[in-house]
Amino acid sequence: MEKITHFERLVIAAYRLPFKFTKTNKGYKAVQNSGGLVSAILALSEKLQQTKSEFIDSKIVWAGIGDNLPKTSNAKEIKNEHFEIVPVEISQRTNELFYGGFCNDLLWPLFHYFPSYCVFNETYYEAYREANAQFCDELIKIIKPGDFIWIHDYQLLLLPEMIRQKIPDATIGFFLHIPFPSFELFRLLPRDWRKAIIDGMLGADMLGFHTHDYTQHFIKCVKRTTSYECRQNVIYTHHKLVKAEAFPIGIDYEKFNTACFKKKTVTVKLKVKEILSGQKLIFSVDRLDYSKGLLSRLAGYETFLEKYPQWHGKVMFNFVVVPSRDQIKKYKEMKKEIESTVGRINGKYSSLSWRPIVYQYKSLSFNELVALYDLSDVGLITPLRDGMNLVAKEYVACQVENEGVLILSEMAGAADELSEAILINPFDHIEMAEAIATALTMDPTEKHERLEKMKYRIIHYNVFSWAFDFFNQTFDIKQQQHSMKTTFIDEIITENIVSNYKNANHRILFLDYDGTLVPFAKFPELATITQHTLKVIRQLSIDQKNKIVIISGRNKEFLDQQFANTNVTLVAEHGYFIKVAGKEWKSTIKTDTTWKETIRPILTEFVNRCEGTFIEEKTGSLAWHYRNADSDNAKIRLHELRDKLAELIRHKTDFEILEGHKVLEIKSGRYDKGGAANYLLKSMHPDFILAVGDDRTDEFLFKTLPKNAYTIRIGSSPSLAKYNITSIPLMMKLLKELTTSD
Ligand code: UDP
Ligand code: G6P
Repeated sequence: MEKITHFERLVIAAYRLPFKFTKTNKGYKAVQNSGGLVSAILALSEKLQQTKSEFIDSKIVWAGIGDNLPKTSNAKEIKNEHFEIVPVEISQRTNELFYGGFCNDLLWPLFHYFPSYCVFNETYYEAYREANAQFCDELIKIIKPGDFIWIHDYQLLLLPEMIRQKIPDATIGFFLHIPFPSFELFRLLPRDWRKAIIDGMLGADMLGFHTHDYTQHFIKCVKRTTSYECRQNVIYTHHKLVKAEAFPIGIDYEKFNTACFKKKTVTVKLKVKEILSGQKLIFSVDRLDYSKGLLSRLAGYETFLEKYPQWHGKVMFNFVVVPSRDQIKKYKEMKKEIESTVGRINGKYSSLSWRPIVYQYKSLSFNELVALYDLSDVGLITPLRDGMNLVAKEYVACQVENEGVLILSEMAGAADELSEAILINPFDHIEMAEAIATALTMDPTEKHERLEKMKYRIIHYNVFSWAFDFFNQTFDIKQQQHSMKTTFIDEIITENIVSNYKNANHRILFLDYDGTLVPFAKFPELATITQHTLKVIRQLSIDQKNKIVIISGRNKEFLDQQFANTNVTLVAEHGYFIKVAGKEWKSTIKTDTTWKETIRPILTEFVNRCEGTFIEEKTGSLAWHYRNADSDNAKIRLHELRDKLAELIRHKTDFEILEGHKVLEIKSGRYDKGGAANYLLKSMHPDFILAVGDDRTDEFLFKTLPKNAYTIRIGSSPSLAKYNITSIPLMMKLLKELTTSD
């Protein structure tokens, strides 16, 4: 498949439409909704409209709930210059339980590490499902082939899978704008909600998170919640591959930076300077939210006033809180507490001519915001937990006329990229107070140098790079999915294989052992070959035109026993040893196995901790089998073992962890089934190649064989094999047909 590089339309699905509408005597006026999500997508859409993008040439479609959406039959009235709007209607009652309930009384506090604020309520969950289904219904009506569907944020975690069910080949991306918490937090959700959320998200092709940590948390939760294998951020679900990746959201640097020079901003700046009359300015702006650490910030500032009286009368803190969710009880209560705290601090420290805090509960216009960013000496951005925090990046972009210092919470996703800020723990009021004092007296050269480094990063990974990187990586994973697509063998394919076999004179058949020729048994030594299967293998191998290769992870002795008196070539230990029919065993490489001394005690520890598991030792590898253990316990231990081994062999590129059916094997990466197949193919020019296997170890074989080979994977997992076949008996039936075809 050619890589897709373009899409017809970008269809955004997010809880809110980007604007709320107010009726004026001239019609409806659209006012931008607050929050990072809206800011980012609006910036992106402006850019896509201004420049003809390589990705898309039509308008962005945005599906979401509208506040006060005009009830008009004239669609043009609600059409925005950047978007085509698809309103989603949800009854007020459902919306209260969905948005106020499940989203903001459970997911928001849980994902921001406030578990004690969480309300677990079955009715909320039902409403969440219903609202996601409502979004799905609206989207299904408008989605066309070639659309790129981009779903955003925690309100719509179930939506990707819902759409996937209806449109299996849709291109779906999902981006989470808030943190994804560690499993310790995520597991607080009831088991079936957890599962529904993970499955819901995995309906997407590409999952984006702000930071590497959130991505890893998500992958851990996938491992703990499902049996899917995850390798290098790719999740192998039963139907397709899904990629999870970090895309730190950026801003439109140019827009903010150049706005500092615009006339409207300059006018605001003049006014602010007049008010300041020489005082230093500390500035913060956030939505009303407990995650933003507003009360903690006030406490830090109060400590500063206490510890540094020399600054009284010389500094002003402009504390702007943007209205948000103030119909929700927790937010209402917090607003009251903020207002009484501001009143108390001002009461305590104000003089006739000076007020230490200027508090505003309002939205700022773009020019006001830019003017305050630029003129402030300190940007005090101290969330207790924040997915990214765009305000911090906007602050840096606007340091033009008066270069200031950014004080940033280490709990904000942005701290990863803005390490030259003064990073503080927002719970530590003393540290915050000291940071303010340091910032106010920082040497201008140091300020400048710190800002330059941060600006460089913000310029280079901006909101456009963020989105385009997301699109590109989605196209990549789509292409990979295609190469791993599952096509089940049917009568026509079988006929084709049989007829090509018949017409060929130099055939080679690679057959895996466990799970291919023989079903799994409780212990490996019990999985022996049946007389019936052996008879088929013998019939195939006595044909002079055939070379039959049993290619297995088993050891030499076992394979010798099972295939005694047959004319087959044996490959043992995934390619470590080869015995060409009629000859002796030989090893394909020489490897140092002293590493086993480090790994064996670890595996022994896991055998002791997980009843029913055992170690199998081979010449070149060690394997931990867990098929006889309690599956829940084994899943947890497997996960721990993977982590432990990954850490241990992180810097050793020569190693690999192979995962087969209920077995984890550690071996050198210098040989595999693919290498063994190549070795055997060197000495012949086959006109018919068939390879059958059942697990990831066989993927090396499928990958290496020439394009005209018939490669078959048993089971329904995505695979590099051309075809899948559902069971061992069906595979045996196919082999049997070959024996009777001549
Ligand atoms: N912002 C806003 N209205 C205002 C002030 C700021 O919409 O009155 C914008 C601000 O420019 C920023 C966004 O709101 O782009 C806040 O995003 P952030 O990531 O900092 O936090 P979030 O609100 O998403 O939690
Ligand atoms: C954050 C969330 C967004 C949300 C915004 C405003 O940025 O990530 O999903 O839209 O806050 O919150 P609100 O509840 O007013 O939509």
